[in-house]
Parts: sequence; C-alpha cells; structure tokens
Amino acid sequence: MNAAARKPWGGAGGTGRGPALVLALVAAGAFLISYNFFAMVFRGSGPVLWPAAAGNGRDPVVAMPASLRTAAGDAARRRPFHVALTATDAAYSRWQCRVMYFWYKRMQARPGGEAMGGFTRVLHSGKPDGLMDEIPTFVVDPLPAGKDHGYVVLNRPWAFVQWLQKAKIKEEYGYAVASALHGVQHILRKDFMIQPPFDTKLQNTFIIHFTYGNDYSLKGELTYGKIGEWRFDKRSYDDRPPPRNLTLPPPGVPESVVTLVKMVNEASANLPRWDEGI
Ligand SMILES: *[C@@H]1O[C@H](CO)[C@@H](O)[C@H](O)[C@H]1NC(C)=O
Repeated sequence: MNAAARKPWGGAGGTGRGPALVLALVAAGAFLISYNFFAMVFRGSGPVLWPAAAGNGRDPVVAMPASLRTAAGDAARRRPFHVALTATDAAYSRWQCRVMYFWYKRMQARPGGEAMGGFTRVLHSGKPDGLMDEIPTFVVDPLPAGKDHGYVVLNRPWAFVQWLQKAKIKEEYGYAVASALHGVQHILRKDFMIQPPFDTKLQNTFIIHFTYGNDYSLKGELTYGKIGEWRFDKRSYDDRPPPRNLTLPPPGVPESVVTLVKMVNEASANLPRWDEGI
C-alpha cells in the first residue's frame, strides 16, 4: 500500500476473516488515533493492527511468520477488537461517523464479524449531541482553551486520555496503549488500507481511507488538484451531509472510488433523517 508513504499516520485496527467477508465502513475522525476518515473493506483474515510507536528504537514493524497466522485468527475470535473513534459534534464529523458506524454494524453482522467487538465514539465536544441513541458514545471535554497551540486535532489524543482514565477497557485498548509506551513490536499488514483515488483496487484490503478529493473528467481521467467534471470530496460537505444518492462516477473511474461513493449512498439511503444531518 503506497498510500502509507504519503501520510504521516494512518488509521488502524480491524480484522475480518473468511473469503466471503467483504466489508466496508466509513469512519470519521480517528480509528485509534488518526485524523481522517475511513471506509473499511474487510476481506480475508488477519490480526488486529495499528501503527506502533517507534518505542525503543527497534523496528516496530515485523513480518508475520506464517505459522502465527492461524493462531492470530483464533485469538481474534476470542478477543474481539474495539474501535474507538474520536469525533466532534460538527455536521462534518457527524455524517461521517454515521456512515462509518452503519458499515461497522453491517459488516459485524456477517459471518466472521464476531472479531469486530465494541465501538465507541469518543465525542470531545464536552456535551451530548443528536447521535447519542444511534452510536455508542462517550463524551469527554474538549482541550482547554489555548492548549492546542493552534493545532486543533490535539483534541483527539486528549479525548483518548480522558476516555482511558474513565474507561472500562474491555478489549485490546489497554494492550495497544501499553505496548506503544513500552516498545512492543507489531506485525502490520501492508495491504490493510487503501486511499482513493491513488489506490485504485480493493483487492484484499480492509479499510478505505478517504481524505483526498476524487476529481475525474467525464472520460474517467483523474484530474487531481483540478476540480473535475465529476467529483467527490468530503470537504465539500463540511456543514451538512452530502445529498442522498450521489451521482456515481463516469465509466473508467477505479473501483476504489466507485465503491466509496456506493457505500456512502448505501448508508445515506438507510439512515433515518439523513438530510437533517442529526
Ligand atoms: C439515484 O439517482 C439515479 C440518477 O442518478 C436514479 O436513476 C435513481 O433512480 C436514484 N435512486 C434512488 C434510490 O433515488
């Protein structure tokens, strides 16, 4: 996955198994700690993964020995992973959270989905919002005024600290945080995540991370950096959700982009009061 090289940090965390498990999820805010939004595609098998802190100078990323693959699959079934998603109460964050959680539940219900455990939206705006009944949510305080030094996403690690301090940590969070602090090595999958429009195929990946604009001519040519005749850019919808039934891309546009738009459409078609942007 070349996309990893383009981004300083990526999303994390999920596992699926069974060749029939084709998933997608769109995430907001953070998956563990990240600053962007995801769709997830679950396929195949694998352990729970996330980027590891560099720790004590050893390479935190090592290849997974083939002999461990089966064992990791068994462990994932016994210990489902927990997804934590940091979020604000802004419209931009809310619609993406809704789409992500819609797909999380959809994929969790499929065979093999038992590896997908709890889900917590860590809402760092200090007060409940309209999604409390729809998405399991833990409300934390925003970073105190001035403490972000202009870097607003500092709210996200602060949200995690509060959640962990109060939180019952049932699944693998405690491990993830402790291992990052103590330099434990991790096995990461290169094929974990794709980023449209640069990664074009789904193949056996788990997550579609959408942050880049997707701009194409009507001939299906990428016009990245120039507004396309057809486009999907999440930043066009920073104060409201995208309309239901977004126009699908023209022929020739890669399957990663087509899948992303179809997934947003599937969620918006099924979620109540979508246009109100609750
Ligand atoms: C979605 O839009 C297309 C035209 O772009 C239309 O043919 C289709 O019927 C619409 N679907 C729904 C569910 O509204």
